[in-house]
This record gives sequence, C-alpha cells and structure tokens, in this order.
Amino acid sequence: MVKTYSKNANRNMRRPVVKEEVVRFMREHQAQNTGFLKKLEDFAQSENIPIIPPETSAYFRLLMQVLQPKKILEIGTAIGFSALLMAENAPSAGITTIDRNPEMIALAKDNFANYDSRRQIRLIEGEASDILAELDETYDFVFMDSAKSKYIVFLPAVLEHLAVGGLVVLDDVFQGGDVTKPIEDIHRSQRAIYRGLQKLFDATLTNPDLTASLLPIGDGLLMIRKNTKEARLPD
Ligand SMILES: C[S@@+](CC[C@H](N)C(=O)[O-])C[C@H]1O[C@@H](n2cnc3c(N)ncnc32)[C@H](O)[C@@H]1O
Repeated sequence: MVKTYSKNANRNMRRPVVKEEVVRFMREHQAQNTGFLKKLEDFAQSENIPIIPPETSAYFRLLMQVLQPKKILEIGTAIGFSALLMAENAPSAGITTIDRNPEMIALAKDNFANYDSRRQIRLIEGEASDILAELDETYDFVFMDSAKSKYIVFLPAVLEHLAVGGLVVLDDVFQGGDVTKPIEDIHRSQRAIYRGLQKLFDATLTNPDLTASLLPIGDGLLMIRKNTKEARLPD
C-alpha cells in the first residue's frame, strides 16, 4: 500500500478540460498501454499515484517515435511510468529522471531494474532545484511533471540545459480549468499553483525566443521550443 497519495490526490485527472465524452473516446479508441506499462498504469490508478493519463501516453508515444530524442531530462519520476514509456518509444535515448520522494524512488528503482531492459534510465534522487544547478549536460527533450507552482522557478535552469531547437513539455498546466478564472474564485490552498502558472504563461506564451503551444490533453500540456541560444525568461 502506497502512503504518499490519498484517494483525493488525483483530483485534476478527474476534472477533464475537454468534454468528458471526448476524453472517454480518446481513452477507449487510442492504442492502450500493454505489458509492463499497463501493469504500472493499473498500479498507479489503484494507489492514486498521479502518472500521465492514457491520452497523454498516446501523445508521448507518437512524440517520441517522431522526435527520437537522444537525451531526455524528466523532473518528476514517481514510479517511473513516463520514463519507461519514453524509453520504450525512443530506444536510443538516454533518460535522466529526478525525484525527491523516498517512497516513489523505491518503487521507481524496482521498476527500472525490472523493465528498463536497455538500461536507458538514470534516476537522480533529490530536490530538482539542487540537481538542476549541478547538471552539466545538454538535453534535446525535457518533461517537467513535478510541483506545478515551481515550473516557473525551474524553467530558467531547464532552458540553460536545453539545446537550441529542443522541446520542453510541462504537464498539468490547466489545473482542471482553474487557470481561466479570476484569483478570487480559486481556493486559497491552490493559489500558489495558480500564481506560478500565470507567471509561467506570461513568461513563455508570447516570448519571441520561444515557440509555445498549449494543448488540451490530460490536464493540459504546455510545449515550448527553444529558438535561440540566448533564450531567457523576463525578470
Ligand atoms: C506527477 S508525479 C510524476 C509522474 C510521472 N512523470 C509519470 O507520469 O509517470 C510528480 C513527482 O514529482 C516529484 N516532485 C515534485 N516536486 C519535486 C521537486 N521539487 N524535486 C524533485 N521531485 C519532485 C514528486 O515526488 C512526484 O513523484
């Protein structure tokens, strides 16, 4: 029994940002995860562990197969589901994935030992802000799936580690549609996330050094291409 996540943890996965019947259609008609990925997906669901939903899995399969990134950085490993899905679909990629939660780290280590058959994945344990400051590699694809209020804090370091032409994908940026509302309508406990995401949108969506696109898949993906070597966020 996993202790980290309560049964209310996955709230936004159950608040689809497009019509429920469209989500159901996507989940039923697109290719399902199979084998160990299906096993891990079922485990995450039974333990309320927030991994990418099936429609994001389908999109990532396509994205990895098309892009075939060589060096991937992931912030937010959890049980290792998305890292293993990326490894399966980008077989020549080396993947560095970061997490700070000991319970998730133990589960991810087991899953990587059992299922990372090409030994593509390196798990770094610790706080992402500390680890980002120490990394000295350049990545062509970064998946950010950690605390949402911190995306805007981590993004400058992520951009420094991203190759020109590389892509950053940030998950869960719509917060079940809350980002569209005035702040007074947001529950006080959610306001730090709300403010962080508004700053993220302001800094990226029309930034000339970046090309950004919002996609209503899962709880919303923000995709950002780094266009220039000097690409920075405004102060
Ligand atoms: C949504 S889960 C990741 C799910 C995973 N990407 C997947 O789809 O299979 C978020 C994870 O990020 C980790 N996390 C959140 N904030 C972090 C931080 N500041 N540093 C390191 N890990 C963090 C949490 O411990 C949690 O395991």
